[in-house]
Amino acid sequence: MTTVLIKGARPYGEGDPVDVLVEDGVITDIGSLDASEDAEVIDAGGQVLLPGFVDLHTHLREPGREDTETIATGSAAAALGGYTAVFAMANTDPVADNAVIVDHVWRRGQEAGLVDVHPVGAVTVGLKGEKLAELGTMAKSEARVKVFSDDGLCVADPLLMRRALEYSTALGVVIAQHAEEPRLTVGAQAHEGEQAARLGYTGWPASAEESIVARDCLLARHANARLHVCHVSTSGTADILKWAKERGTKVSAEVTPHHLLLTDERLATYDPVNKVNPPLRTESDAEKLRAALAEGVIDCVATDHAPHAVQDKDREWNSARPGMLGLQTALSIVVETMVRTGLLDWRGVARVMSERPAEIGNLTDHGRPIEVGEPANLTLVDPDTEWIVRGAEFASIAANTPYEGMRLPGVVTATLLRGRITAREGKIIP
Ligand code: DOR
Ligand code: ZN
Ligand code: ZN
Repeated sequence: MTTVLIKGARPYGEGDPVDVLVEDGVITDIGSLDASEDAEVIDAGGQVLLPGFVDLHTHLREPGREDTETIATGSAAAALGGYTAVFAMANTDPVADNAVIVDHVWRRGQEAGLVDVHPVGAVTVGLKGEKLAELGTMAKSEARVKVFSDDGLCVADPLLMRRALEYSTALGVVIAQHAEEPRLTVGAQAHEGEQAARLGYTGWPASAEESIVARDCLLARHANARLHVCHVSTSGTADILKWAKERGTKVSAEVTPHHLLLTDERLATYDPVNKVNPPLRTESDAEKLRAALAEGVIDCVATDHAPHAVQDKDREWNSARPGMLGLQTALSIVVETMVRTGLLDWRGVARVMSERPAEIGNLTDHGRPIEVGEPANLTLVDPDTEWIVRGAEFASIAANTPYEGMRLPGVVTATLLRGRITAREGKIIP
């Protein structure tokens, strides 16, 4: 029996410190407890104890681009970032559009053993947007695929999207849409606005996102299906989500840490580390996204962790790949933008980083309350200590972080997956 005793932690940052006993992967006691001889003790010193984080949107690059991230290195980055489960997007090479690939990803995740890696299945064959993939086969495979997405690309054909939504209901899964009307973003490089115009970049208009989100909300409502909107980036999308939710549409949505903090002012650097899809928007968009997350109009935070090789990223803007690392900085950006501003308390952080993403992704053993009898998927956070971001020190193979050199608040000091310590004081525990 493995036993861990967390001494003096504050669940959800509330009340006096308590001790939490974990035996064989389950929380078995909470109170004032003495350590048995065989117990591994974590001295929490009043730090904040939260349910382990769940990331609905991670790009691991295995299979295909193991030079930038593998399931093992991405899992390590996730554990160090406080995650106990991640959903690995389907835009690998080959694409995860069949049971063989999704089962391979699932097994590799289990071998790495640091977080539960749930493969996302592609909605269409080869992400081509032409023909539906075999969603049912993937949903019933060993990996039990629970989320489907063509992320990286939009399911632009409304009839295909409608069919995908209809099937998803019967299978009890969710379709996650990368909302980008491709006809409106041909050659797009940056948010369509003053900054892009000044620098001569082709614009990516807010309406390319909003028109798809509005359409999909209507399709989901008509099909009585669940829709999940990936990486909401505009103020208008938040308005559409509010409208749809008020009318009872089963829609959920995520926002990335980078869209909460960063804006298109960053374009002035000409540094492609700031290039991402959807692009960084304006300060008024970011402000609206923070408010929408606090209100629950946007349900959760998802990283869109997107590792890229130096040769694909560190080049002239127009040919650089979009995407940013996110797993090891997400909590700190949430603390900076949401906790320090008073928009969320630690209960709220648990909601947007763990509980809601677990519900949306149909995970029954993550995002659970910190109570006796519950699975011990836990994250311990030192809320006040600040650290300086160094991409080269991340567990990820790639280093494309837009926060390089920034001083950020909030340190993950321990992560437990089913009672096993996976990360401790910034180190992976193999
Ligand atoms: O910035 C992005 N990077 N957006 C996407 O949609 C895809 C992702 C990637 O795979 O690199
Ligand atoms: Zn995307
Ligand atoms: Zn993505």
